[in-house]
Amino acid sequence: MEGVSNLPMRLWWHLASAPSALATPFLRVTATFPGSTLPRGFCPELTELRSYLPYPLVPQLMAADSADFVRTAPVLLTVSPFVELNAGCPSPTCVGKGAGSSLLRQGDEFHRFVGELQQGLGAKSVAVKMRTGFHSPEEFTHLISGLADYALARLTVHGRTRPQRYSGQARWDLIAAASTSLGTAVVASGDVVGQASLDQRLTTAPLVAGVLVGRGALRNPWIFQELRTGAPVRLSFTTLRYALISHALLHELYQEHIDRLFELCKSGLFSRSCGTDEEAWRQLQATLAKAVFGSEHPGFADGCQQDHLWPLARQTMGRLKMLWNYLRSSLPPVFFAPSLLRSSSLEAFLSHLERLYAEHRNQGGLAELELAHQPTWDWLYSGEKQQRADVSL
Ligand SMILES: Cc1cc2nc3c(=O)[nH]c(=O)nc-3n(C[C@H](O)[C@H](O)[C@H](O)COP(=O)(O)O)c2cc1C
Repeated sequence: MEGVSNLPMRLWWHLASAPSALATPFLRVTATFPGSTLPRGFCPELTELRSYLPYPLVPQLMAADSADFVRTAPVLLTVSPFVELNAGCPSPTCVGKGAGSSLLRQGDEFHRFVGELQQGLGAKSVAVKMRTGFHSPEEFTHLISGLADYALARLTVHGRTRPQRYSGQARWDLIAAASTSLGTAVVASGDVVGQASLDQRLTTAPLVAGVLVGRGALRNPWIFQELRTGAPVRLSFTTLRYALISHALLHELYQEHIDRLFELCKSGLFSRSCGTDEEAWRQLQATLAKAVFGSEHPGFADGCQQDHLWPLARQTMGRLKMLWNYLRSSLPPVFFAPSLLRSSSLEAFLSHLERLYAEHRNQGGLAELELAHQPTWDWLYSGEKQQRADVSL
């Protein structure tokens, strides 16, 4: 996910609930970019860290010209069975440059583009991620029918059109129709936020090659455990706290000390996920803190103390608050308060978090926190207008 799923985020998702595969955000390629080497941060799991990390990674490129894709993909094909084309991004910037969902404007042109990728790179070397139409879902049947001529490694359909962006409901009936029309199951994307929502959508599209979870994995980063076990995930407050600090420290390492982060990857630190295991998260946090600050600082282990201020880069706090903005919606209601989003330091963030937990306990809340999708907040994450005038953010 563009702007979201960088290396530290992918590591953290793996630590939280170990999805069966992860994907890079798209890398937009042009006639001059990238040069002879890929940006170091794009997919290190496939290159420098290849022998050390336990999850498969799908590399995704975005291009307005098939020649740029064909020029860049070969280096990726030495480390990945296929490279994915982004034909879904709805942002005006990408569309304005003729890339992303813009490739879907004209069905025949789209088919020609995919054909050029296959011709340049070989059968089963290219995967496609697309929407159901550039203007309307009426375009979908034609868009899909032309793809039958190509041996794609994988087709993923986000069941929305470009104008829908992330609002409204994803059309799983169209995803089902794509599988029927192609005679092979496609990967489905859109609106999976927990076991119940997945079950419901699979009644519409029972034959899928896989399910891609986007925003649902931000709102509930332990969603993959829920989808594996079928049961809602519960975790202690302390586990949540360790996990959030670890999230910040991973981003700090990536931002400020990337070599140290790579060393930790090579040491095998991320080979197993922590899940909801409090002790595993505690140990992870201690190791990450040592890598960032040189000590396992007691300020983190024993509560927030004003005299133990550990500065983090602004971008790190921005990442933590972005995650929290999603995650708070799956926690008990008291955690939705906007106070944490105003924190300018990790210490302030943690002390707000502890205050909210104390409030939750005072209101008779359970010691363990259950992560559950709250549809009340869907509008906020779909870009729709605020539904209720009484909600203050
Ligand atoms: C912030 C954000 C960034 C995204 N970036 C990408 C991307 O780089 N490549 C891609 O194929 N899809 C991207 N998507 C789309 C998601 O992969 C997914 O198809 C879409 O959000 C629908 O699934 P969801 O309802 O589970 O979120 C992005 C979505 C969001 C919200």
